[in-house]
Amino acid sequence: MAPRPHSLYVRDEGAGPALVFVHGFPLDHTMWDEAVDAFAPSQRCIAVDLRGFGRSTPAGAPLLSMETHADDLARALDALDVERAHVCALSMGGYVALAFAERHAARLRTLTLVDSRAEGEDEAGRAKRDAAAAHLLDVGRAAFAREMLAKLVAPSAGPSVRARLLSLIEATPYESIVAALMGMKVRPDRMGVLRGLAVPLLVVCGEEDVLTPPALSRAMAAAHPSGELSLVPGAGHMSPMERPAAFHDALGAFLARHR
Ligand code: MLT
Repeated sequence: MAPRPHSLYVRDEGAGPALVFVHGFPLDHTMWDEAVDAFAPSQRCIAVDLRGFGRSTPAGAPLLSMETHADDLARALDALDVERAHVCALSMGGYVALAFAERHAARLRTLTLVDSRAEGEDEAGRAKRDAAAAHLLDVGRAAFAREMLAKLVAPSAGPSVRARLLSLIEATPYESIVAALMGMKVRPDRMGVLRGLAVPLLVVCGEEDVLTPPALSRAMAAAHPSGELSLVPGAGHMSPMERPAAFHDALGAFLARHR
């Protein structure tokens, strides 16, 4: 018997060309709430919970690969009757979007990578993923969330963004956090996917992002034949939540040029 397609939870709002939002680690679709509110008047916004996150089905495996998430996304689009979509994805979501671009290229209209990277994990990075998984189990989710938060946002980030991020991380099952770390650990380099990407590319990055610093975004935009770059002042790694107005301006202008 063929395996049952994985069902992802999606917030699906608005009408018009489909605009898919993919969240980062270890968060869920609600990180895009402001973006969905901003774009739903002109686009069909589809904000997904990746497998193991938010309201989607549990991880169910010790490793969730970027390819698994990409294939889940393609099946979710099938179920929603969406042939092609603009995809906007943050950090780990960007790793998933690049796997999607590699495996389901014909389904992409445009790609927006936000505070992300295209390089695969090197040996030091792989060791850090193992250490992070062990550390999580050692200190527990609340301490893990507090430590992550210090790197996720710029010093100027407000209390409500900080509180939302803490509660999102604390609500994510241990199993999913570890499976995501193991999946990111084995992800391959996809700079080649960016070089060969046949659709428009926008790269957005918080100027104060310490996890995926602006230099990585410059390199990604430069790798694509017509890649566009937008740096968000006063934002760290969570630019869409920290500076939503600037983020929406950048994404809106890009989408208006590539409808
Ligand atoms: C994210 O925000 O999704 C993470 O920083 C990705 C990562 O750990 O590489």
